[in-house]
Amino acid sequence: MRHVSRRAMLAGAALTAGLCRPAIAQGAPLKVGMMLPFSGTYAALGENIAAGFELLIAENDGKLGGRAVTLIRLDDESDPAKAPANVNRLTERDNVDVLLGTVHSGVVMALVQAAREKEIPLFIPNAGNVAATRDLCSPHVFRSSFSNWQPAYGMGRALAARGVKKAAWVTWDYAAGKESGEGFRDGLRDGGAEMTHLLTVPFPETNFQPVLAQISGLGVEAVGSFFAGGGAIQFVKDYAASGLRATIPLCGSGFLTEGVLKPQGAAAEGIQTALHYGDGLDNAKNVAFRTAFKAKTTRDADVYAVQGYDAGQMLAAGLTATKGDAAAAMAFAAAIRAARIDSPRGAFTLSASHNPIQTIWLREARDGQNKVIGIAAKDLADPGTGCKMAGA
Ligand code: PHB
Repeated sequence: MRHVSRRAMLAGAALTAGLCRPAIAQGAPLKVGMMLPFSGTYAALGENIAAGFELLIAENDGKLGGRAVTLIRLDDESDPAKAPANVNRLTERDNVDVLLGTVHSGVVMALVQAAREKEIPLFIPNAGNVAATRDLCSPHVFRSSFSNWQPAYGMGRALAARGVKKAAWVTWDYAAGKESGEGFRDGLRDGGAEMTHLLTVPFPETNFQPVLAQISGLGVEAVGSFFAGGGAIQFVKDYAASGLRATIPLCGSGFLTEGVLKPQGAAAEGIQTALHYGDGLDNAKNVAFRTAFKAKTTRDADVYAVQGYDAGQMLAAGLTATKGDAAAAMAFAAAIRAARIDSPRGAFTLSASHNPIQTIWLREARDGQNKVIGIAAKDLADPGTGCKMAGA
């Protein structure tokens, strides 16, 4: 009888029963399932995240942390109803080693659930859903972007510092809009001001007339807003066309004017926003990154490109420490937690629940750029305290 080791038998049994994913084949490329919107209102955001991630891989000869990488792209359409089936395709049919995604705060929850249940590392390159790094934090979930609370908190602080006492928040009716509104409210409150109204439009609708018609009657001195992508283009144009800007300035989380200044045109001129990135940030990494991104894509880099690139840098830190084994979960996570990510936004580290601690810049849209004009909140951490991470 041939000798079969107990380990091999156990592994075979577990595989047959579908209980575990096969161990990394020696030398096989790491499979990254890239689930992003490549259609719909957030399509341009998904494209820039993917291009940023791919740029880092190209700069490292097709590898991250010394291991070759293959990408599997999936268009999630920013549709929460399709998210569980889409994630399942990546984890069960394509057997990916790592998940990268996504933009939309509702859609990301299916990815977070899979990462937690199947113990597959997940890198979130945008979606700010606070639960991902608060109540649902996990050793397997890492965010290279922001929590929805962070940029809006910075905007609230900046408005209050300028003497605004009452402001409203206008947004889409889903997690990102609601949670950024909470950040705005907290920022205003901490500066001695008040968020008096929250007005919403269903996602991804762009009929803003019903909310715009209410604004002049609210008695507010400013309107803050979360919209992004195609919706942000329309909202900024409609706000300008309504004539409200002369009396009630528009501001927001920086996504309002990020990557969309060209189509917004004159309607965006002078709008102030707060974000963890801005044009003209004067550090060597940013200058090199913007040049390389433009050369690769012919587009200008934006925050989404940065977040994709940095998700790659975080993954590379984990792979370097584990010699390419993303399934060595505890060593992989420990290395990413200890890493200082040399980002085009400025270097950052992660909080205990794996969300970036980062400076929120105050920017003003001028001549087609979101120019940094000050600091809205320095080294800002998401305030979540609910994270009790086993093994962290
Ligand atoms: C989100 O849904 O979390 C989201 C979407 C687009 C952004 C920012 C946040 O630009």
